[in-house]
Amino acid sequence: MTARGDKPFVVAIDGPSGVGKSTAARRLAARLGVPYLDTGAMYRAVALAVLDAGADPADEAAVVRIAAAADLSLAGGEDGSFSVLLDGRPVEPRIRAPRVGEAASRVSTYPRVRQRLVALQRASARAFGAVMEGRDIGTVVFPDTPHKIFLTASPGVRARRRHEQLLQMGKEISLAEVRRELDERDDRDTGRAASPLKLDGSYVEIDTSQRQVDEVVARMEEVVRQGS
Ligand code: C5P
Repeated sequence: MTARGDKPFVVAIDGPSGVGKSTAARRLAARLGVPYLDTGAMYRAVALAVLDAGADPADEAAVVRIAAAADLSLAGGEDGSFSVLLDGRPVEPRIRAPRVGEAASRVSTYPRVRQRLVALQRASARAFGAVMEGRDIGTVVFPDTPHKIFLTASPGVRARRRHEQLLQMGKEISLAEVRRELDERDDRDTGRAASPLKLDGSYVEIDTSQRQVDEVVARMEEVVRQGS
C-alpha cells in the first residue's frame, strides 16, 4: 500500500481492551506490508518510567515531569513492527505486568503525556505509513485517514479473554475481578477529557465476539482495500 500525495498511508485501529486489537493489527500490517505500531506500549513505557522512578501515577505533575524527561524512542524491527525503547532499551516484556497496565491507564489521562506520545506516533508513520492501534488514532493522531476500524466485543467475552491471558502469565485472579478492572478502565478511557475513546460514523465497526482472529483480519483487509 502506498501513501496518497504527501499523506502517509495509515490504518487506524481503535477500541477498548480485550477485543483482540494487537494480534489482529499486527497480522493486518504484515499482510499490507507496512509497519505496525502498538501505541498502548508507549503509554505503558511512560508508566514503567514512572513506577521505576518510585513516583505515584496519580501525581500528574510528577508524571508529566518524568514523561517529558524520559528517553523514549521507537525502533523499527525486522518483522516490520516498531518496538518501544526506554533509555535505549526494549521495554518488553516488563510493560505487560498488570501493575504497569493499571498505571498506563492513569498516566494516559494526562494531556501533556498524550501530546508527547502523539508527536512520536505521527513522526513514526511519516516515512513508511503504519497500521496503528490504540484508543485515539482515528480521532486525534490521524483523523484524516480514510482507513478507520473500531473493534468491539461484548464485555463478557473481553473479560474472559483477558482472564485467560492473565492466567497464562501466572497471575491468579478471578474472572469477577478482571471484569471489575476492565469496567474501570473502560470508564477512564471513555470518560476522560483528553482524547477519549469514541466510536463515530467515520469508523467501520467490527464485532470480534464471535469471530476468529483470521476472520477479523480478513474483514479488516477488505475494509482497507475497499477504502483505498
Ligand atoms: O492497549 P493497552 O491496554 O496496552 O494500553 C494501555 C493503556 O494506555 C490503556 O489502558 C489506555 O488507557 C491507554 N492508551 C491510550 N491511548 C492509546 C493507547 C493506549 O490512552 N492510543
